Amino acid sequence: MPTHITAVINQKGGAGKTTLSMNLAAGLSRRGDTVIVDLDPQGSARQWASLGTAPFPATVKQMAPGKWDAKTLHQTFKAYRHVVLDCPPSLDSAASLAALRACDVALIPVLPSPVDLWASLRLPQEIDEARKVNASLKAYLVLNQLEPKSALSVAMHDALAEFGIPVLNAAIRRRAIYRGAALEGVSVFEMGGRGALAAAEIEAIINEVIAP
Ligand SMILES: Nc1ncnc2c1ncn2[C@@H]1O[C@H](COP(=O)(O)OP(=O)(O)OP(=O)(O)O)[C@@H](O)[C@H]1O
Ligand SMILES: [Mg+2]
Repeated sequence: MPTHITAVINQKGGAGKTTLSMNLAAGLSRRGDTVIVDLDPQGSARQWASLGTAPFPATVKQMAPGKWDAKTLHQTFKAYRHVVLDCPPSLDSAASLAALRACDVALIPVLPSPVDLWASLRLPQEIDEARKVNASLKAYLVLNQLEPKSALSVAMHDALAEFGIPVLNAAIRRRAIYRGAALEGVSVFEMGGRGALAAAEIEAIINEVIAP
């Protein structure tokens, strides 16, 4: 089977790209060998994986911007079943746009506030642009840091409709375990019973769009 590439992208800082990338990669590694490509010069994914006492379940690699495209990614990572691209918080970096051109699925984590979504308004345009060379690109918003029990505001529903990119049914709640896992250099899958609800959220995302 060809390597499946998922890009986790949003120019808005702190939306949850690295949290989603790392946990997604850990979940995917249970299905087949998985590599996370840390495209952020901040190197957060690499640092995260280096904190754990045991090796992180997915390999973390870094790649210099401008040095790769879909073809070279497939070539470099042909031994892997899944590639997850953790993008930097910028659309002006060559890395984010190259990721959109190279991936099968783009996941866009967004915080459930219209203001946060407005900060990402250029993304739908860039996705359309990427589709000129990557016609089968699928893109979805993933709501992150949802508060338990609180419904999305009317303003947020309006903002999502205006954004024009489908929202995954599977969403991520605000849970201390996501921060806890990062601090320990592991994923929520390694947190035992305390991580079970979070792990189920990540599994639901994988089942919905990556490996149904
Ligand atoms: N669902 C969640 N529940 C609780 N905390 C979360 C959740 N998602 C992310 N966080 C926390 O929010 C902060 C930002 O998350 P993260 O680093 O994943 O965002 P990012 O988009 O990668 O940021 P950057 O734009 O700097 O790369 C981190 O402290 C992370 O632990
Ligand atoms: Mg990050």
